[in-house]
Amino acid sequence: MYKIENHLVSDATRAYAHLDEAGYQAMYRQSLEQPEQFWAEQAKRFLTWEQPWSKVHESDLSQGQAAWFIDGKLNVSVNCIDRHLPSRGEQTAIIWEGDEPTDDARISYRELHEKVCRLANVLKARGVKKGDRVCLYMPMIPEAAYAMLACARIGAVHSVVFGGFSPDALRDRILDADCQVVITADEGVRGSKKVPLKQNVEKALKDCPNVHSVVTVQRTGADIPWHEHRDLWYHDAIAGVSADCAAEPMDSEDPLFILYTSGSTGKPKGVLHTTGGYLLGAAMTHHYVFDYHEGETYWCTADIGWITGHSYIVYGPLCNGATTLMFEGVPTYPDASRCWQVVDKHKVNIFYTAPTAIRALMAKGDEYVTSASRTSLRLLGSVGEPINPEAWEWYFHVVGDSRCPIVDTWWQTETGAIMITPLPGATNLKPGSATRPFFGVEPALVDPEGNELEGPASGNLIIKRSWPSQIRTVYGDHQRLIDTYFSAYKGVYFTGDGARRDEDGYYWITGRVDDVLNVSGHRIGTAEVESALVLHDAVAEAAVVGCPHDIKGQAIYAFVMPMHDIEPSDALVAELKAFVAEQVGAFARPEFIQWTPGLPKTRSGKIMRRILRKIACDELDTLGDTSTLADPSVVDELIAQRLNRA
Ligand code: PRX
Repeated sequence: MYKIENHLVSDATRAYAHLDEAGYQAMYRQSLEQPEQFWAEQAKRFLTWEQPWSKVHESDLSQGQAAWFIDGKLNVSVNCIDRHLPSRGEQTAIIWEGDEPTDDARISYRELHEKVCRLANVLKARGVKKGDRVCLYMPMIPEAAYAMLACARIGAVHSVVFGGFSPDALRDRILDADCQVVITADEGVRGSKKVPLKQNVEKALKDCPNVHSVVTVQRTGADIPWHEHRDLWYHDAIAGVSADCAAEPMDSEDPLFILYTSGSTGKPKGVLHTTGGYLLGAAMTHHYVFDYHEGETYWCTADIGWITGHSYIVYGPLCNGATTLMFEGVPTYPDASRCWQVVDKHKVNIFYTAPTAIRALMAKGDEYVTSASRTSLRLLGSVGEPINPEAWEWYFHVVGDSRCPIVDTWWQTETGAIMITPLPGATNLKPGSATRPFFGVEPALVDPEGNELEGPASGNLIIKRSWPSQIRTVYGDHQRLIDTYFSAYKGVYFTGDGARRDEDGYYWITGRVDDVLNVSGHRIGTAEVESALVLHDAVAEAAVVGCPHDIKGQAIYAFVMPMHDIEPSDALVAELKAFVAEQVGAFARPEFIQWTPGLPKTRSGKIMRRILRKIACDELDTLGDTSTLADPSVVDELIAQRLNRA
């Protein structure tokens, strides 16, 4: 076992931080004991309201219902841009670092205002109104942030689809939200490779008759398909409209965005977030967790296609008037020192990334890190999956020169903002633990029957009360929200994660307890990969589980039963892997495909995933009871042929 050493808050960190331990304790207590007063104070402090709320909060979690700052009115783009103009109009809002190290840009709050207003006017001219859904399929370029904020300005609801998704996945998401406008780029560029975004849009739109407008940013100048009446170039369109656009006053509970995420059943869920509570959650956590101070440069390496990009590249930092860095490329291009070169180049103070990136860079060797000075760095963050203590220590000692605290932040697309996390000036750190709840968050552990566990314990992680940035509904299917999050345990939110709580009350997230995988920080439903596999003519049945992977955290292991007349082969394995990448996206490509004449099923026909998981993880000594299987002999065959042996 790796020995875990605690890291105490240093004097320097405590002296600089917004909060020390006493401050955290006092605020946390108030947030639970006097929630109305607490949240009213925070909402006034962090946000600018056009009309005050009549009631702070109302919720009925048994129905999945929550409302915050009821009747309050505000606009997110005003909070993220306009209100900063008098004091920091010339300050850089966004530093853009392109794929090539020679390619960068700085966008001031004043320029951001102009760009967002112009694009908002373009959307309006195309008939987009409050409540309409707009799909964004964008690379990591400033126009992606402009597009999100332009939607927010006019009250349109954006649905950002990660640029790594396939045309089919894009189509499904456009249709589910009935988006009528798509904003994209001709191509994306990552690690010198081109991503054919507009071509993918073209394929997706074959089945989306309601899309009447596609706005395309010219990133590479590639030849792309074009439809005169439907398509417009971003640069042409914004040149022809006013640089002012009045912001739509939004109700605190009006939708801000939809973001699709994977669950344990097939179809991705459109997680819907609203205006006031979401923005408060993003801004307040950005302030306290990253201990953001005026004038600092902050870099979150996520893609805007995921919730981390929404809350911690765009909304949280901009709401706080921060300078946020947006990186188009990958950490290993031109070489594995890129992140630290960028840190030095732009004097980055706060760096937030995922364990998978940390492990990948760790494997390349320390020289790539130590060749850069990194003296500007003050704080490091981790998100997306459990961080193993070895990677934590490397991040701390090598990247942070044993000087920068690490905030290991646990949260989800559904929670909108960070939920369990250290606060740098307050929390002594234990590598691998997300530590303690943020303000207003009341976590608990329960056993499978729903009994709450006291003291040090392991169980399923639930949240016992509503918080401002929580998911409001699954777009178009509120019952699915109730079934997924609010039914396993009555009246509380079920996270889908397991966790351990230690003797200091610190939480250690152990990972998903449902059929959701976390591959390189990407959340993938096993059912999505299975549905893709069975679409192939050669496949009769498929079952997908996760297995540990040194860099990715988890990898995809698929058990595939071929059609009776199909001869399994290595070529077919390669074809199936490529097929899944094409159906879902490259990040969902299975690591292992094992052929099998049958799957282990109970007598009632249910696939015994527990057994498949054990085989894929090569944990044969804890296989458990196989006697309830319809045909136990299939297990021996699966074991004999397993691919992932120690
Ligand atoms: O299993 C948890 C894991 O990521 C899941 C949420 O994924 P997603 O909605 O894509 O959001 C990722 C970014 C917020 C969680 O259910 N997870 C996230 N952060 C951590 C984590 N697991 C352990 N430690 C974390 N810090």
